[in-house]
Amino acid sequence: MVLFVQTLVNGQLMKIIHSIKQMQSFSESVRREGKKIALVPTMGSLHEGHLSLMRKKAGEDFLIVSIFVNPTQFGQGEDYEGYPRDLENDAKLVESVGGECIFAPDVVGMYPEFFQTTIKVAYITKNLCGISRPAHFEGVATVVAKLFLAAKPHYAIFGEKDFQQLMVIKRMVKDLNFDLEIVSAPIVRENDGLAMSSRNRYLSPEERKAALSLFRALIESRKLYDAGQLDADALIEHAYKIIRSEKLARIEYIKVCDAETLEDIKTVSRNAVMALAVHFGRARLIDNIVLRV
Ligand code: PAJ
Repeated sequence: MVLFVQTLVNGQLMKIIHSIKQMQSFSESVRREGKKIALVPTMGSLHEGHLSLMRKKAGEDFLIVSIFVNPTQFGQGEDYEGYPRDLENDAKLVESVGGECIFAPDVVGMYPEFFQTTIKVAYITKNLCGISRPAHFEGVATVVAKLFLAAKPHYAIFGEKDFQQLMVIKRMVKDLNFDLEIVSAPIVRENDGLAMSSRNRYLSPEERKAALSLFRALIESRKLYDAGQLDADALIEHAYKIIRSEKLARIEYIKVCDAETLEDIKTVSRNAVMALAVHFGRARLIDNIVLRV
């Protein structure tokens, strides 16, 4: 197996590292040079949403992008096997935004035989996606902790597209005293409003069109909120109506939650988030919008 590959990027060598040990010693050497390391954890199949996170790295900082389709965050019957994988194309995209290193570990390296240590963030994982995906955030928190320990970043950048995930990672970093900062970046959308996602490629043209109802529902509900409607049920009902008008949509949840605790609320009196998960064919899409007080 190739453990350490170097490709020429703008006259510089970009490294693709597969081994955890090599990642750790490489990061150590970058740190010794006095550079700051920015990490963008991904599952690959990169799109403009991912690239926007990479562009958030500051000036001379050293950018590491991890690419790992993490089996432990997928539930039974979910799309782990079929999740799109294309390391070669991903490497070109990372190069295009000036990334210097890709960390692409393999499953056996990440989960050796008898692996049995996990991280569970207790409360904010209960609601929203945690209802239908009970083991998901334990898988996410554990793999992200492992990526931190391998790449040793000074800061890591996550998207607000996965709002609950961002909160889980922030909580974990605080609770376990990880010596790094979490930076967040806004949702990147297609021109017509659909939030970019690696899973959008599962959509047929009809489903793609129907999926526009998600952003429409969020925007229209926020307009209602801006016009003075603070009642969460009324806002949710408004969003339901818009999405339900699309025959191809199968709504998993639409909720208005406290933006800090992610608990359901009755009235928007503190910053809140309207979050939803909706299925179109085999694609499960999530999206959200913040309701600021
Ligand atoms: P993945 O779905 O590949 O997303 C990687 C990062 O890109 C996440 O922080 C996600 O929020 C961000 N992202 C995805 N689509 C975005 C969009 N349209 N706009 C802005 N940011 C976007 O999330 C994961 O992978 C995994 O759970 C991971 C954290 C890597 C752990 O396995």
